[in-house]
Amino acid sequence: MNFEQELKNKVEKIEQIIKAYLPQCTSEKKDWAKTVIEAMNYSVNVGGKRLRPLLMAETYSLFGGADKVIEPFMAAIEMIHTYSLVHDDLPAMDNDLYRRGKKTTWAVYGEAMAILAGDGLLNYAFETALKAFALSEDDANRTARALSILAQKAGIYGMIGGQTADIEAENLGEMVTEEHLLFIHAHKTAALIQAAMMVGAVLAGADEEQITLVERAAYEIGIAFQIQDDILDVTSTLETLGKPVGSDAKNLKRTYVTLKGITEASQEQKEFSNHAIKLLNSLEEKGIQNEFLVKLIRSLITRVK
Ligand code: IPE
Ligand code: IPE
Ligand code: MG
Ligand code: MG
Ligand code: MG
Repeated sequence: MNFEQELKNKVEKIEQIIKAYLPQCTSEKKDWAKTVIEAMNYSVNVGGKRLRPLLMAETYSLFGGADKVIEPFMAAIEMIHTYSLVHDDLPAMDNDLYRRGKKTTWAVYGEAMAILAGDGLLNYAFETALKAFALSEDDANRTARALSILAQKAGIYGMIGGQTADIEAENLGEMVTEEHLLFIHAHKTAALIQAAMMVGAVLAGADEEQITLVERAAYEIGIAFQIQDDILDVTSTLETLGKPVGSDAKNLKRTYVTLKGITEASQEQKEFSNHAIKLLNSLEEKGIQNEFLVKLIRSLITRVK
């Protein structure tokens, strides 16, 4: 099977897992809270590459994992990622009208409901991940560690911290140094990619050295991913990307493109990705390998959306 077909099959499976864990919409007349559930479902179901659950599942299988315990975590990380996008698009943040090829959640449901849908997704992510305990009675310690990683990488020392730094760096222009920008990218984007891959490694029983290696590789994959996101914000189109281009310029954001120019940004993106692959390939000596995972990371170098 070629990579594209394999990717498609895997994403289809992930879609089913996510769907199974989302809260059910109801038409119950006296459920006066149903709109938040509808907005949550809308935000997740409109699409998306499902990269984080995919990286999680592939890292889990890299270390020999083959259980259902990974599934609630896969759904949970997509919920957290989606909530981060719903809030990122709000007028108070990036103020964008399109996401995943459709109107943003706030554009459809209003700002208040988008805030609540984001809150709902974040909380429901943990309600969902906690279900893993029922699937892993013998490995409660691993499940607890995975939960802790997920919580930390999504939080103030992870994604939320990165979004904070991103917002505060608006308008600062050239005062934002490479170190400062790397802090932003590492936290707002790489942290959730680290969570995805580390949760996979931990649940599969990887040792400490291996978990650290995965954390490092995921950092590089995350930085490369955000550099490419910055490039596509300049070079792509709304149709291809499913979200507005020029969002960073509109918000006077410092990006890898304004820092280094497109050619150098592209070059560095490739270098980060190749180094991540090198790190993962170093596990091969111990027979730890996942060809699909390496192909997936390589495919991100040239991704167009
Ligand atoms: C967008 O993430 C936000 C960034 C961290 C750059 P994705 O590009 O993974 O968005 P979806 O999930 O495919 O919509
Ligand atoms: C946001 O980065 C990363 C998040 C944590 C949501 P961007 O603001 O560049 O993401 P897009 O381009 O809107 O997807
Ligand atoms: Mg943003
Ligand atoms: Mg944005
Ligand atoms: Mg962007």
